[in-house]
Amino acid sequence: MLGVLQVKPHGAMLSGETAAALEFLCEQLPATLDLCRLIEEKLQLERELAERERLAALGQMAASISHNLKNPLGSMKTILQLQLESAALPETLRGETRLVVEEIDRLSTKLNQLLRFSRPAVRSGGSGASCDAREVGEAVTSVLRHEAERRGVCLDTQASEGSLRVAASAEAVNEILSNLVVNALEATPKGGHVTLRAAPAGGGVEFAVEDDGAGISPGVRERILRPFFTTKAQGTGLGLAIVERRVAEFGGKLEWESPVRDSRGTRFRVWLPAEDAKPAISGVTGKRSTPSRTVEEAE
Ligand SMILES: Nc1ncnc2c1ncn2[C@@H]1O[C@H](COP(=O)(O)OP(=O)(O)OP(=O)(O)O)[C@@H](O)[C@H]1O
Ligand SMILES: [Mg+2]
Repeated sequence: MLGVLQVKPHGAMLSGETAAALEFLCEQLPATLDLCRLIEEKLQLERELAERERLAALGQMAASISHNLKNPLGSMKTILQLQLESAALPETLRGETRLVVEEIDRLSTKLNQLLRFSRPAVRSGGSGASCDAREVGEAVTSVLRHEAERRGVCLDTQASEGSLRVAASAEAVNEILSNLVVNALEATPKGGHVTLRAAPAGGGVEFAVEDDGAGISPGVRERILRPFFTTKAQGTGLGLAIVERRVAEFGGKLEWESPVRDSRGTRFRVWLPAEDAKPAISGVTGKRSTPSRTVEEAE
């Protein structure tokens, strides 16, 4: 039974004709509703297919652009590095040359990000990869400390005692944490704080990257995980899409909340299974993680 059609004649008797028409309507309604459902499913599938095709085309374009730009950039960097090694380079040019090398590095990082995103996802969650989350967290903060200092932001790491081994490759965890910490640094004004925490939780390890920046504005909440969505002048909009994909690859969870306190700040939380939890978790490899909603959003 699909439902009940209730007719209230308001005191009047239903004529035989009306009753017959209503019975006919009841017979027709389920088929019509089924048809509506089928049409809705078809439209949904068509929308998903169109979105996938759009992303595949964007991915191919991104891959070919990054591929074509990588080699000339590499050559430019080599030439500049050779110049930096030469004693004949005037001191006035040395600083500027270093700046150009840094800019080339930034560009290369963006291109690598684009290339990685355009590559089809490699499901390595069950391949036995594992790493020490504490070591990876320290590696990420030591690389980004210079950037934090340049921005006048205090970057802090806190890792719990005990084993923090996770069933995910060091390269993936590094990519996840780097993207989250870079976003946090970019969102935090001078004098602000960014904290990276790692602690055992629910048969795995939970990482939390928290900043006290302006937070994620209500108008963009639904879109931040979408590939190529960015609110930054120089952003590619791939950081969180990559984070989401990599977390899912290892059967983890990604959640975020913003604001965190005093109407400010953002906290991203990533949970990854512990190394010894691998066999049980491998069955859900590739599960899509979902962002948590703030109280405001849920309302
Ligand atoms: N910690 C944060 N605070 C405020 N907004 C954030 C934070 N992290 C992400 N966002 C928002 O989510 C958007 C998408 O982030 P994402 O990392 O995917 O791309 P991006 O940082 O803009 O560019 P890319 O990472 O490719 O350089 C950002 O443009 C920003 O608006
Ligand atoms: Mg980013």
